[in-house]
Parts: sequence; C-alpha cells; structure tokens
Amino acid sequence: MTHHDTEVGHSIDELLLDDAAIAEQVLKIKDERNAVILVHNYQRPEVQDIGDFTGDSLGLARKAAETDADVIVFCGVHFMAETACILSPGKVVLLPEMRAGCPMADMADAPGVLRMREENPGAMVVSYVNTTAEVKAVSDYCCTSANAVPVVEAVPSDTVLFVPDRNLAAYVACRVDKKVVAWDGFCPTHENITPTQVIEAKEAHPAAEVIAHPECRGEVLDLADHIRSTSGMLDAALQSDAEEFVVATEVGMLYPLGLAAPGKHFYSPSPEPLCPNMKLTTLSRVLWALQTLEPRVTVPEETRVRALGAVERMLALG
Ligand code: 13P
Ligand code: SF4
Repeated sequence: MTHHDTEVGHSIDELLLDDAAIAEQVLKIKDERNAVILVHNYQRPEVQDIGDFTGDSLGLARKAAETDADVIVFCGVHFMAETACILSPGKVVLLPEMRAGCPMADMADAPGVLRMREENPGAMVVSYVNTTAEVKAVSDYCCTSANAVPVVEAVPSDTVLFVPDRNLAAYVACRVDKKVVAWDGFCPTHENITPTQVIEAKEAHPAAEVIAHPECRGEVLDLADHIRSTSGMLDAALQSDAEEFVVATEVGMLYPLGLAAPGKHFYSPSPEPLCPNMKLTTLSRVLWALQTLEPRVTVPEETRVRALGAVERMLALG
C-alpha cells in the first residue's frame, strides 16, 4: 500500500471523486428544495466549498434572517441552527449532524442566569450567541465575538452580566466603561491554547503576526497583534502588510484564510486547536439531510419569541 492508498484500498483520487459526486448531488437537491446552505468558517473544507455563504456567527445570523429560502441547512453547531430558527420562523432548519453541540453553550442554563439577575438587581444580561435559546430568552441582548464591545457599550445599564464566556467577558471589560460580571464558562478548544504554544509558533515563524479569537485566554490575547471574530480574521489578514500569521483559533480557519489571501501563509499553534463538534458535519450528512429534511432543529414558540428580542436588539445595533 502506498501513501496514496487508504487502508480500505481506495485511492485518494477515488475518495475525492466521491466527494465531487456527493457535492454535485447536494447542489442539485438544494435547488429542488429551495434550500440555502449556511456554513461556519471552522467546517471541513469540502463542506465550506458547497456553502452559499460561509462566515462567522454574526454573518450567519444575518443571512438566516434575510433568506427567502424554504429550508436552511446549517453546517455548524446547534446554537447556530437555533439562532436561525429564532430569526426565521416557518422555515425548516436542518442541522445535518444533531450531535454537533457547543460545550461552552451548554455551560450556561436559564435558571442560573435568572439567579445571577436576582443577585445583581438593575444589571442587564448580554448573552454571547454561543448559548441555548432558553438562555437567550432570559437575556436582554445577544452579541457575537464580532460586536461584543459595541453591544455591551450600548446596553442601557452600568453593570452587565456577561454569559457564558469568561474570556470574552474579560476582553470586553477592558474596553468598556462599565462593570462586567462574567459567567464562569469557556470554550475548551480556545482555553487549551497556551501562551507557550503561541510563542513557539512565533519562534518558528519570526515574521508572523498573531491573530487570535477573543475566546482565547487573556495571556494568549496579550501576545496577539489582531483580536478578531473568525470573519474579522479574514479582514485582518488582508489589511495587514505581514505575509505570515500565527492563527490562535480552531484549525479549520486556515482554509478560508488561505482562500482569502492565497499569497500569505497561515500557521496554527501546535497541537492544532480542534473543535470536534465542528468537524462532525460531512458532505454525506448534508446530502442525507437534504434528502430526508431531517434532522430538524426547532425552538418552542414561547421561547423563540422571548429569545428573538435579545437577538433583534443586537441586530438593530448594526
Ligand atoms: P465566530 O462568531 O467568531 O465565528 O465564533 C464562533 C465560535 O464558535 C468560535 O469558537
Ligand atoms: Fe463552541 Fe468552542 Fe467549538 Fe466554537 S470552537 S463551537 S465555542 S466549542
């Protein structure tokens, strides 16, 4: 067996052909269903390639709100599909792999947020979009990594309860003139990126600038030249004069960065930060979802309406 062969005896070329054939079927049935495929920047490259739109949580929420498709296929994680349900009632929202959750979103629950409110009278709740619909339903505003600072700034209270990411909360707290009380949650993928890993990557690529996601720990953000949402990273790479970048976020981000700035070089810290949930969605799963219109994500109407308030207040800020 050569290194071009897999253990089950298929050549890599055959497997690629399979992918191409599946992608062709996906695009055909997508038109028949009047479906739109929304894809997060961390998804597998072949899934990004079949998307109508690839982006960060904010961009994806905006697309979900404005689409006139009948079916939204969400290639991302559960809270993203829920946000699409919140914004687009009446549409079928498919999450091709129902096990694709977000451990950080699961760290916060609505009763806990209500308790936090009771302990901090007069404070308003800003929940990161990485939350369940139930948590959004007991929040005043929603935000994403792209707009967390302006949203917290705009909230009409001097104290803000920020749920669930303590790292994003600390990043915001240094940039606003308010008290920020943080929920004690975090993203395991970003929490595991250490300053030493980033310094080692910098030593291997001395000319590189560091781009980091604000879900990283403060000690990692201190080493960053640019702190951006995933789509913001594309702008940072394009606008910078640097030719090389160490990218402190989930490794899937290297694919859209390479497409956006083909002449530049992007490196992950080692070991590569991986979000296993983001990698669960495959081309075959997308095809199966379009064929069967399952699995669907739904949000009970009462929860949806209350959660919509928080999401709409965010979107209204522009
Ligand atoms: P973005 O909104 O920046 O794409 O981040 C989403 C996410 O889950 C990062 O881990
Ligand atoms: Fe959640 Fe982190 Fe995965 Fe983003 S990278 S979906 S925050 S676990």
